[in-house]
Amino acid sequence: MDNYRYLIDFDTDNIRKEYYDVIIIGSGIAGVYTALELPDKYKIAILTKETINISNSVLAQGGIAVSLDKEDSPELHFKDTLYAGAGLCDENSVWVLVNEAAQNIESLCKFGVNFDKKKNRDELSLTREGAHSKNRIIHAGDTTGKEVCDKLISVVETRKNVKIKERTFAIDILTENNVCKGVLTYDEDSEQYVYYVSNVVINAAGGFGQLYSNTTNPEVATGDGVALAYRAGAELMDMEFVQFHPTVLFHSKNKSFLISEAVRGEGALLRNIFGERFMPKYHELNELAPRDIVSRAIFSEMKKTKSDHVYLDITFKDKKYLEERFPNIYKTCLDYGIDISKDYIPVAPAEHYCMGGVKADVFGRTNIIGFFACGEVACSGIHGANRLASNSLLEGLVFGHKIGDEVTRILNENSSADTSFHLKYEKRRTKREFNIEQIKIDIQNLMTKYVGIIRDKECMLIAKGAVDEYYNSVLGILNASIEDFEIQNMVLLAKLVIEAAIEREESRGAHYRVDFENTDDINWKRNIIKSIYK
Ligand code: SIN
Repeated sequence: MDNYRYLIDFDTDNIRKEYYDVIIIGSGIAGVYTALELPDKYKIAILTKETINISNSVLAQGGIAVSLDKEDSPELHFKDTLYAGAGLCDENSVWVLVNEAAQNIESLCKFGVNFDKKKNRDELSLTREGAHSKNRIIHAGDTTGKEVCDKLISVVETRKNVKIKERTFAIDILTENNVCKGVLTYDEDSEQYVYYVSNVVINAAGGFGQLYSNTTNPEVATGDGVALAYRAGAELMDMEFVQFHPTVLFHSKNKSFLISEAVRGEGALLRNIFGERFMPKYHELNELAPRDIVSRAIFSEMKKTKSDHVYLDITFKDKKYLEERFPNIYKTCLDYGIDISKDYIPVAPAEHYCMGGVKADVFGRTNIIGFFACGEVACSGIHGANRLASNSLLEGLVFGHKIGDEVTRILNENSSADTSFHLKYEKRRTKREFNIEQIKIDIQNLMTKYVGIIRDKECMLIAKGAVDEYYNSVLGILNASIEDFEIQNMVLLAKLVIEAAIEREESRGAHYRVDFENTDDINWKRNIIKSIYK
């Protein structure tokens, strides 16, 4: 790997440079909120691979977890998060998350985000999702992520100190002696490389859901932020833990549309293809058990009934209620001929969230000086082996705020970017012809079939063999396009997920192995760290 520290050859003397106090990679909730948490005297650039409104956060439906009810408390939210995380959460980080949730929700409301309110009251309406012991999910209909992102983006667009750089692909961060020196990018519009020079880079580039065939994530979720961090020497943690959302629409024309857990929170029941309810057989919390348990239960019912889907039944609620509470789900299903007030919704699990990522502390600090990680790209230990529903948007807010504080402190001491840094990087590269689209499909199929909800060593070794071959063939290619960068990142991440999954010889949370069915606290109540130096 260290033979190819950077994906391209370059000489910083010969490429266009732009200078900033802070560079943020990614325009989801973590990136945009962090930008807003920084003082406006600092010059900030947000780099985004597509347009600013395309991110995984925008697609989040259910809501944000926060203990606001008088029956609830941060302690109970803490307990539920730890229970879902199956013994691998970092208690210190979770404590910060649950205790600082309310103040960040207040900030969101000040930015103009409109959450649903209780009828005739000024209080926020609270619903429940899987593994929460109390109603604590605030929401904006069933498009919470869009409401939050739209509002935050509209505010950030008015900030004169923030430049939004769309269609800007972050290829690699530059480093010298483990200190971050900025970001090397490819600007799609000018078709040129641009070096964004800064002492502070905040990686909020999202996860790697595109490693799987069916995912709720957008096309952009190819894990570029995790891969570039790894190449730079950042430690990655918990890569084996990949969350599958239990209820994703299963329709020939759409297998990525989420049917929010909030639908089950409002009472929806899971039924197999014979119409039989099955969750009571699997867990005492029934349809609201932790996600890993519900996904495996569905998988097992599908196997037993030789079917590729199960059903979600919310037909006992009336049409008017469903249209108002879940307008997006109601309309989207109707577009596919499913009237959810009358018809069962066909669903199957699909990849949804990566618990693993760039190891970061509560201030988003990684092991590289000046390089921070926030949101899905980061692994701050709050999700453990299985994320509690609606803790992810919250993570972007709470840790975005804390990164804002920490970066402000650093910049107050020294804000000027290192203009003297120069680097020429050259390696022998070969031009090879690939069918990139085919490699991507092969990787997705291998990951889904062998490194998905149910795993075992024999199958993972098959995936490893194939992925290692792809890895060797794409390593050191002469790049020409964003697709080239993405496929190299995807192959690298597939390799790391498989290696970590083979290494963890137990079952825990989202990592379920038929050859090691039990949780083994004695040997495995610990995180697996991946680093080019190990
Ligand atoms: C959902 O609405 O079910 C997704 C919420 C989440 O992933 O936390």
